[in-house]
Amino acid sequence: MLSTNNLITAHGGELIDCRLHEQERLNILEKAQHLPCLTLSARNIADLECITTGVYSPLTGFVDENEYYSIVKDMRLDSGLAWTIPVTLQVPESIASLYQLDSEIALTHPNGEILAVMTITSKFKPDRELEAEKVYLTTDDAHPGVKAMYAEGEVYLGGPVKLINPIPYNDFLQHRLTPEETRREFEKKSWNRIVAFQTRNPIHRAHEYITKIALELVDGLFINPLVGMTKSDDIPASVRMQCYLALMDKYYPQNRVLLSVFPAAMRYAGPREAIMHAIARQNYGCTHFIVGRDHAGVASYYGTYDAQHIFDEFTSQELAIAPLKFDHAFYCTRTQSMATAKTSPSSPSERIHLSGTKVREMLKNGQTPPPEFSRPEVAEILVDSMSLANA
Ligand code: ADX
Repeated sequence: MLSTNNLITAHGGELIDCRLHEQERLNILEKAQHLPCLTLSARNIADLECITTGVYSPLTGFVDENEYYSIVKDMRLDSGLAWTIPVTLQVPESIASLYQLDSEIALTHPNGEILAVMTITSKFKPDRELEAEKVYLTTDDAHPGVKAMYAEGEVYLGGPVKLINPIPYNDFLQHRLTPEETRREFEKKSWNRIVAFQTRNPIHRAHEYITKIALELVDGLFINPLVGMTKSDDIPASVRMQCYLALMDKYYPQNRVLLSVFPAAMRYAGPREAIMHAIARQNYGCTHFIVGRDHAGVASYYGTYDAQHIFDEFTSQELAIAPLKFDHAFYCTRTQSMATAKTSPSSPSERIHLSGTKVREMLKNGQTPPPEFSRPEVAEILVDSMSLANA
């Protein structure tokens, strides 16, 4: 466990740290060479990173059967703390007999390197239709989160993990801070009230508008783009990072913003994912979390503000970070500024709504997103990346 500081406490009170001290690490590494191996998927690796560095505090491993059903059915851990999406390690039935209950296994990277050791305390075949219905609110396997869940094995292994080698990355190395590191940064900057912004898109004018309104209320803005797996038509994280850096350079006050990536995979679970996103940001040290329209949604599976309403189902004992809820923002041609229906006197014909989907279509057709939607520097990066992809 890491010691806490003056910032908001981690979810559950203490920041989890599953990394080992050097001697213990060497001992376990030696033993791990002889254990049955399980090669992790990209999604598992993202979860392992979040568990072991405390992004998913208070989890110390992949969920066991009790936790799984408590999360799926009640959106809470046994302790009563909010937790809305089970973090699972799934294996195909055909190889499940390799992994025995009450034994240790080595979790390996696809490159063969051993990353962690896990003690299997639970091995079960859950009701995945119930998981889909409760977590994603649909059993439709066209839903990318439901599809990803079914794509992994039907046998679930639960138990605590110990990280023995850091997960190898070759991207965003300057912007890959752990919760321990973001907390240190916040302290250095003397920020106490910090608002976090989750995104899986380039930052457009609507995002810029809501992040700046939020920043008016607190000490600092934590831009925390998700860079784990997303669906294939989302804009790649490497392109998005260029957009964030360009924007921060010119359009945000640099001393009030911190950019660091969120390694998790996207689940597209709408309301339940909004809670999970908020918990992770509390662990990074944030007091507030932005939730706008259709947060973490996809297609039309969720209502526009369902991801805001779900916060009403938790008390501040169950979830300490506070949501900052925003209406659907658009560009108002009458006032020539960003606005929402709360602040704009305009009629619907004076409102320019541009969605991520529409921008992707424009880019595909070689069109540049207009300034009402994207800052020109961002539009240029997107257009360039599209022409490179088509070259
Ligand atoms: S998400 O999957 O990460 O939620 P996205 O990157 O589009 O997708 O959204 C990031 C955050 O901005 C979410 O809280 C979302 O609700 C909010 N948001 C996106 N577009 C708008 C908009 N036009 N008006 C208000 N909030 C928005």
